[in-house]
Amino acid sequence: METKADSNLKHELESLRQQAEAALKAADTKDALEAVRVEYLGRKGRITGLMRGLKDVAPEDRPAMGALANEIQEALGQALEARLSVYLQAEIAEKLKAETMDVTMPGTYRPMGGQHPLSRVVADICAIFAGMGFAVIDDDFCPEIETEYYNFEALNFPEHHPARDMQDTYYTNVAGNVLLRSQTSNAQIRYMENHPLPVRVVSPGRVYRNEEVNSRKFVLFHQLEGLLVDEHVRFSDLKGVLHEFTKQFFGGERPTRFRTSFFPFTEPSAEVDVQCIFCEGKGCQVCGHVGWLEILGAGMVDPNVLQNVGIDPAKYNGFAFGMGIERLAMLKYSINDIRLFFNNDLRFLKQFKGL
Ligand code: DAH
Repeated sequence: METKADSNLKHELESLRQQAEAALKAADTKDALEAVRVEYLGRKGRITGLMRGLKDVAPEDRPAMGALANEIQEALGQALEARLSVYLQAEIAEKLKAETMDVTMPGTYRPMGGQHPLSRVVADICAIFAGMGFAVIDDDFCPEIETEYYNFEALNFPEHHPARDMQDTYYTNVAGNVLLRSQTSNAQIRYMENHPLPVRVVSPGRVYRNEEVNSRKFVLFHQLEGLLVDEHVRFSDLKGVLHEFTKQFFGGERPTRFRTSFFPFTEPSAEVDVQCIFCEGKGCQVCGHVGWLEILGAGMVDPNVLQNVGIDPAKYNGFAFGMGIERLAMLKYSINDIRLFFNNDLRFLKQFKGL
């Protein structure tokens, strides 16, 4: 028999269903729907509240009442779900629209970098000497912050010798004898100290001199040092190697000439000229109308230098050479100002891309 409590609860459940349906209908935002869910279906919601009255219902009627409550709950849940999903779909659609990728749009232009002309020239020069069997010393093998011993003394520049003044050297205040190397010739000493004979190497790197800056001189520049030490090395070997170098570097057979010169670490010493690549010896502005361009210093390694690294000069001899990279690059690419290598002007640097 249906008791009063039964009919009350049933009535209330039915009325709750209607209220919930009305509330659902009226909810026109996602938040409003969420509020309906909390109000009716939440843990502390109205359906749960009503179901507390189930205990007053006659035991035989409880299942039917419970089923009714469940049915209401489920129906409401489904209706809510359906309404919410409209909002969710709309949200997703909006998000997708905002994130749409137009694959036909042009990409962001990121220009490719290029090798600096000096790096390029160093690589070219090293490749030429590698082709003649010279090993290339890593440019961090020799320190740029050097001691007087490696920069001068071991290279046979006696203390107070005027030859030290040929290179206006930067001294540091670290200690009286610590300086910025003024030449890559320190590589000769450092390499021979650590490697067995025979030696056949080139060593590129940066050097520093306290120069007045102009279109031909800068306070830092690059050199490439060459060294060959073995038995029975002749001056003509040096000539052959350098002749082959100029041929490959400037492209084509070109006369070279050796003028006597002086360097403390070579004896005899020479400065090497290549026939002017612009006028082929006829004389022009670049070569100062002499038809020749000076490109490097060279000579036979002085016996004192060998002795300083513990090599017996009676048994071994060798040749060395040192060239200015900027000068060679300027000649090869007709660059008229050394400062262009150092001020990072893209209009200049771009011209060497893909060379
Ligand atoms: N170190 C010399 C300079 O900077 C260049 C040089 C000359 C290097 C003759 C050599 C050499 O190895 O044999 O002026």
